[in-house]
Amino acid sequence: MCGIVGYNGNRLVVPILVQSLKKLEYRGYDSAGLAVFNEKKKIEIKKSSGRISALEEKVKEIKYGNCGIGHTRWATHGEPTEVNAHPHFSDDKSVAVVHNGIIENFSELKTKLEKNGYKFYSQTDTEVLTKLIHYYWKKYGKPMDALARIQLRAIGSYAICVMFNTEPDVLYCVKKDNPMVIGINGKESFVASDASAIAQYTNCVYYLDNHEMARVRKGEIEFYTIDQEPIKKQIKVLDITNQNSDKGDYAHYMLKEIYEQPTIQKQLINEYTKNNSVNFSKLGIEFSEYSEIEEIHIIGCGSAYHVGLCAKPVIESVAKIKTQVHIASEFRYQAPIVSKNSLVIAISQSGETADTIACVEYAKENGLKTLGVVNCIGSTMTQKVDKCIYTNAGQEIAVATTKAYTAQLLIMYLFTIMLAKGKGTITAQTEKNELIELSQISQKMKIELENVEQLKHFASLKYNQKEVFFLGRGIDYASGEEGSLKLKEISYIHSECFAAGEMKHGTISLVQPDTLIIGITTQKNTTAKTLGNLIEVKSRGACVVCISDVIDEQIKKASNYIILIPKTNEKYSPLLSVIPMQLLAYYIALNKGEDIDKPRNLAKSVTVE
Ligand code: AGP
Ligand code: GLU
Repeated sequence: MCGIVGYNGNRLVVPILVQSLKKLEYRGYDSAGLAVFNEKKKIEIKKSSGRISALEEKVKEIKYGNCGIGHTRWATHGEPTEVNAHPHFSDDKSVAVVHNGIIENFSELKTKLEKNGYKFYSQTDTEVLTKLIHYYWKKYGKPMDALARIQLRAIGSYAICVMFNTEPDVLYCVKKDNPMVIGINGKESFVASDASAIAQYTNCVYYLDNHEMARVRKGEIEFYTIDQEPIKKQIKVLDITNQNSDKGDYAHYMLKEIYEQPTIQKQLINEYTKNNSVNFSKLGIEFSEYSEIEEIHIIGCGSAYHVGLCAKPVIESVAKIKTQVHIASEFRYQAPIVSKNSLVIAISQSGETADTIACVEYAKENGLKTLGVVNCIGSTMTQKVDKCIYTNAGQEIAVATTKAYTAQLLIMYLFTIMLAKGKGTITAQTEKNELIELSQISQKMKIELENVEQLKHFASLKYNQKEVFFLGRGIDYASGEEGSLKLKEISYIHSECFAAGEMKHGTISLVQPDTLIIGITTQKNTTAKTLGNLIEVKSRGACVVCISDVIDEQIKKASNYIILIPKTNEKYSPLLSVIPMQLLAYYIALNKGEDIDKPRNLAKSVTVE
């Protein structure tokens, strides 16, 4: 969600800003813009609504400037128009600002500024922030004074990068609750919302913390506290230069990422197991650290939350630890009762999800242990948690997560096995057997991905569906939640998942001839019950698809189509049942001609509440 970039060096600035913004496209945006110091040392701004390519067209003639800022906006205040796009200017064109986040008290600040003669042209909170910076700059004299001062007045979240026309070779940065990294390479400095945007230029970065300010010169960066005292910060050298962000022969990133799953599963098993045992020691993670844990609280949003739903019954049955799963945006405002010996596991692909990060902070303030399961190396969450297991799925570009989701599932299973073995709820032999089972997932996923014709055909028949319901019980219900989210986010078909037994308590009234129902039946103890529910909807005219690891007479009776998936230990079935659901969502969206990798209104990383 929203991307900020900045460059200060000796090369032409515009191509670098555009290249870096393109790397942030995956986060989601609806307009873009940039500002550069021109030959006369004046600030020049160019903006456009829509894609970066539109901005690129507008700026291609700019063959001057070595210092500037860029932005992709994901509108929160005001429509995605050119006027609302960033950078925002002060009236006298002396200050230009790009901002990620939300200024909650922008109306109050706007009234104050209007009383002081400021005029406003856009609907954004960012324009208010820009003029507030200008106001304090004029009042107190120095850019740093203004940046320190706005932090006392602006309520909300922000990562901002600012240009002042009196200092044509300096960028200023400050942040609170939104990510910002500053990279350096020789005589060049870079600013970005995440390190992947500038990985092509440098892997040496500083992470700005809340209320820290930075003065960014060419290859020289100074950091200050809000009181303007200098701070020494540690540079981090990241291993992110080899991210493969090429689509290859695939029509979409989503399809490519779906097909990467077998390889990632295999790599993760190799990486995190040793001599038939789970081994996270290279991350400084050992069982001894968790031996006193009495409760686990899993936190996540969207698909990451679904991973938690799938993992909970496995943790409880295998490691015998009471586990609760929370939607991050709910957890943070509920003052949850969490016992002292709890472990909070935050799951996130991006590591930048504002709500999940807030929960990690809450956990830390309350003295709880925190563990991150994160894909993006060096992201904000990885800096905040006590320990972090990387899902190492590589950069995920499609907004709809696929490979990061299954990587998170596998990590949660491996972590459970480590806990169980440490606690003695499973033996070394059982651990070995579980790992053998998990190591076969990769091959089984491959088989699923080689047999897509039935799904493609089915998608071509059903893409005009108005509504789809997913039904399952227990782990199958958790898995169905993910299938349903995949379908709705990229195909825009209304879809919901229900615990199969709940259908009769209301939702069945929506079932009409031809309603599409997708049932998942991989759990021995509940399959007969779920099949009963499927027969109920089928007899009311619904078209039933059953995702199952067996085909028998009962299943045939309950469904119109059967999607056979390979067998595995049933607690790990979400790793295999999700594959046909991902593919179905993909091919349905493809038939509908939707923008699969960048679905409307969605952002890859949700850095605002
Ligand atoms: C998944 O396809 C969604 N795009 C979304 O639900 C996502 O899982 C959620 O926003 C959480 O993101 P995170 O993993 O980066 O924290
Ligand atoms: N709130 C700002 C706006 O609506 C910034 C949004 C963003 O983070 O892109 O312009």
